[in-house]
Amino acid sequence: MQRYREVFPAFHTLYRLTTTLDDLSSFAMGVCRLYRNAFSADKVVIVCKGNASQGFIKICLENKRSQVKKGGISILTRVERELLKQEKELVLPNRLIYPFVFTHVLGGIYIKRGSHANGFSETEKRWFLSLCEEVSLGLKIFELYQEQKKIMLNYIKSLSQFLNQYVPTSYLHTKIIFRLIKAMTKALKLSTVEAQSLEYASLLHDAGKMQVPSQLLKKQQPLTEEEFKLIAKHPRKGVQLFKNLEILKPAIPIILHHHERYDGKGYPSKLKKEQIPLASRILAVLDTFDAMYFGRPYRRKRRLKEIEKEFRAQRGKQFDPRIVDVFLSILKRKNIQKYFKLSSKK
Ligand SMILES: [Fe+2]
Repeated sequence: MQRYREVFPAFHTLYRLTTTLDDLSSFAMGVCRLYRNAFSADKVVIVCKGNASQGFIKICLENKRSQVKKGGISILTRVERELLKQEKELVLPNRLIYPFVFTHVLGGIYIKRGSHANGFSETEKRWFLSLCEEVSLGLKIFELYQEQKKIMLNYIKSLSQFLNQYVPTSYLHTKIIFRLIKAMTKALKLSTVEAQSLEYASLLHDAGKMQVPSQLLKKQQPLTEEEFKLIAKHPRKGVQLFKNLEILKPAIPIILHHHERYDGKGYPSKLKKEQIPLASRILAVLDTFDAMYFGRPYRRKRRLKEIEKEFRAQRGKQFDPRIVDVFLSILKRKNIQKYFKLSSKK
């Protein structure tokens, strides 16, 4: 009865881990803890197969210490390799060892109690196997989600290239900007979903300009009030294009508000300060940087020193001061400077 009380909530925890999972390591760590608590295990080891670039992820919990290893097959012990190869339960005293299988092997687990403790009962073995089935399902969902994400990113990249034929400034210069996005999202502690959505939005934020007459987008003279009103519709038009694509849903507010200003004088909703989604405030900085560094039909290219001065002048007005500070410090990093040197040679 006691074990029942511990194991039963584990299924609920597992369901929660599966439905909120966005990175394999934290899922595996959650599963490890769950098994340790549910089975009073002294040691739990989980091995998961990541994608081609990740290799394997191995998590070991022992005596309240945790260890995470990532790498090729060499991080696995002989027993772990055997488990993945055989696709079936291994029988060893005082341990439960089982592969996670769903159409193919996705990983494996073993749990162990110290020699002082009792062995696992038949009921515990059944609970263990049922939980393993659930974990296998979770890993399969994660694998499918990763595949879907890859397909979607390729689709978005193709779409942005297509858009670029109509609206030459509709997407940011990807290599440098992606590098900057990664550095900014890390420094500003965005979640994986927010960071991913910012990448999508950086490629698609100006797609709504497809519905703006192209001579207006290329115009070098100042815009009339009417012309500006037409261009200012592009965030909403962009949202209309993508609102039904499930994977782009978190990117929609970022696209909609990428022209808001920190002082509330932007468009379309005149949001101010923290009312503007954080990722939109970041995109506003990157979009302006892209326009200044690479130039636009209506704007000459600027040098990094001039750009820095402009951002400082707009700190707290057009842009979030905290984001400007983070951005300017990132621009000074050696690895980022290297990117600019490479791009200027092209
Ligand atoms: Fe825009």
